[in-house]
Amino acid sequence: MTQIPTADLPGGGRMPLLGFGTWQLSGRQCYDAVRTALDAGYRHVDTATMYRNEAEVGRALRDSGVPRDEVFVTTKLPPARADRPEETIAASLDALGLDRVDLWLVHWPPGDAGVDLWRRFLAVRDDGRARDVGVSNYGLAQVDEVTRATGERPAVNQVPWAPSRYDAAVEQGHRERGVALEGYSPIKNTDLGAPVLHEVADAHGVTPAQVVLRWHLEHGVAVIPKSATPERIAANAAIAGFSLSAEEVARVDGLARG
Ligand SMILES: NC(=O)c1ccc[n+]([C@@H]2O[C@H](COP(=O)([O-])OP(=O)(O)OC[C@H]3O[C@@H](n4cnc5c(N)ncnc54)[C@H](OP(=O)(O)O)[C@@H]3O)[C@@H](O)[C@H]2O)c1
Repeated sequence: MTQIPTADLPGGGRMPLLGFGTWQLSGRQCYDAVRTALDAGYRHVDTATMYRNEAEVGRALRDSGVPRDEVFVTTKLPPARADRPEETIAASLDALGLDRVDLWLVHWPPGDAGVDLWRRFLAVRDDGRARDVGVSNYGLAQVDEVTRATGERPAVNQVPWAPSRYDAAVEQGHRERGVALEGYSPIKNTDLGAPVLHEVADAHGVTPAQVVLRWHLEHGVAVIPKSATPERIAANAAIAGFSLSAEEVARVDGLARG
């Protein structure tokens, strides 16, 4: 895979804007899918304590032969563990077989914005167990609250994102704050039969799903599609060889208006 852009994170990490999602993958299927993804060129894998597949993800990483420093690994702390983040990252690292992750996220706000939890996340980062720390499913007001309280912004906010959910104000708000926006469920939240996706896809000789994934990159938004199907895993990674014009991006943005 050539030239997937990256986002520079405050801890010095570079997050590839295309990652491989692993929610609902487990056991042998998860191991095989992550191996296939790494073979197809993905260099970013998204897991979570809640997915119960960190051990399979870690084993696939090791067995792939891809050097550790070439793969960006994210995991997440579930709200139910908000009272024991240090124990939770230790368990994640143990399962993954890693000394540190590239990105550790608060999976959901733990009721409120979780200022105390954010402080403890920063301490884990400072101890070297996560290169960068961030949040997921946070609104901009919650991002501001943890930033104000600590003087340190989340490196990333991972939120549901797709053409149907496109929100220019949310995108701009993250850009202004220097928080990288990472979208999840890009395919689930898309009607792949939408005529505009077919028209743009036909113009480039690609599929509607590839248009959706490329659209994220054109916006500078990270995207982490999941698939258990080898052909789809490879097709979803084959989005570096074409680009969308500003007009095509605007047409796809228009899917948010129904
Ligand atoms: N932070 C959070 O709260 C949160 C929440 C949800 C998800 N996530 C992360 O985001 C990742 C992606 O989101 P997601 O798994 O919810 O949804 P997704 O990636 O949008 O969709 C996955 C579904 O789309 C199918 N699919 C994949 N590629 C396709 C293609 N090219 N054409 C047609 N269908 C295709 C997959 O089927 P097959 O597998 O059968 O191929 C699967 O059923 C997750 O895996 C997880 O890592 C994070």
